[in-house]
Amino acid sequence: MRLARIRRRLARSLTEWRAPARVDAFHRLYYDDFHQTWAQTLWLGTRAFKCPFDLWMYQELLAAIRPDLLVETGTAAGGSALFLASCMDMLGNGRIVTIDINDRADRPQHDRITYVHGSSVDPEVVDRVRGLAADARAVIVVLDSDHRRDHVLAEMRAYSTLVTQGSYLIVEDTNVNGHPVLPDFGPGPHEAVETFLAEGAPFVRDRSCERFLMTFNPGGYLRREED
Ligand SMILES: C[S@@+](CC[C@H](N)C(=O)[O-])C[C@H]1O[C@@H](n2cnc3c(N)ncnc32)[C@H](O)[C@@H]1O
Repeated sequence: MRLARIRRRLARSLTEWRAPARVDAFHRLYYDDFHQTWAQTLWLGTRAFKCPFDLWMYQELLAAIRPDLLVETGTAAGGSALFLASCMDMLGNGRIVTIDINDRADRPQHDRITYVHGSSVDPEVVDRVRGLAADARAVIVVLDSDHRRDHVLAEMRAYSTLVTQGSYLIVEDTNVNGHPVLPDFGPGPHEAVETFLAEGAPFVRDRSCERFLMTFNPGGYLRREED
C-alpha cells in the first residue's frame, strides 16, 4: 500500500517531467555515440533492443499487473520476448504473443511465447491476436515494430482496445526524432502518442514509469484509465 501511494505521488509530481540536459547527454552517449550500446544488450544470450532500465520497469509492471497475455509487435531476435517469458516464469503466470514481419529460425523457443509471422497491421494478424486475447483477464500491449508515426498510430488504434483497465500500452522508442536521439528520424512514436492522446483515447501517460531517469520510452508508458 505504501508503495502504491509513493507511485501515485511520483506520477503526479512527474506529470510535466522532462529529462534534464545531463540525462539527455548520457542518453545520446549511450544510444548513438558509444558503439550503439542499445543494440549490444543480451538477455540470456539473445539480443534485446532495450534499455536495461526499461526492462526493469517491465518486470515491475508484470509483477503489478500479472497479465495473462502480453502482446508485442516487433520480435527481432526474440530477446525482449524471452526476458518477459523469464519474468512470467518467476511469477508463474502469463504468455506472450509476439508479431514480426520477418520470420527467423533462430529465435528462442519457450512454452510461454507464441511467434506470429506477418505485419502487425494486417487485418488477419490483428484478428488472430484478438482471438488469442479473448479469454485474457489482464492484457499488456507493447508496440516495438516499425517506428514511423503512421504505422505506430495504426498499431495503437488496432491493439489499444485489448489493453485492460489499469493496464499498460507501452509505445517503445518515443526517444527518436530528437527526444533526445536520432534527430533526423522524422515523425515517429512520440508523434503517434501525441495524436492518439489528442483523439481522446482513454489512456494517460504514467511518468512514474520514467523514474529511473533514462528511458527509451519517454512519455510512452500509457496506462488505461478505469471507467
Ligand atoms: C526494434 S525491433 C524489435 C525489437 C525487439 N522487440 C526487442 O526488444 O529486442 C523491430 C522489429 O519490427 C519488425 N517490423 C517492422 N515492420 C513491421 C511490421 N509492419 N509488422 C511487424 N513487425 C515489423 C522488424 O522486422 C524488426 O524485427
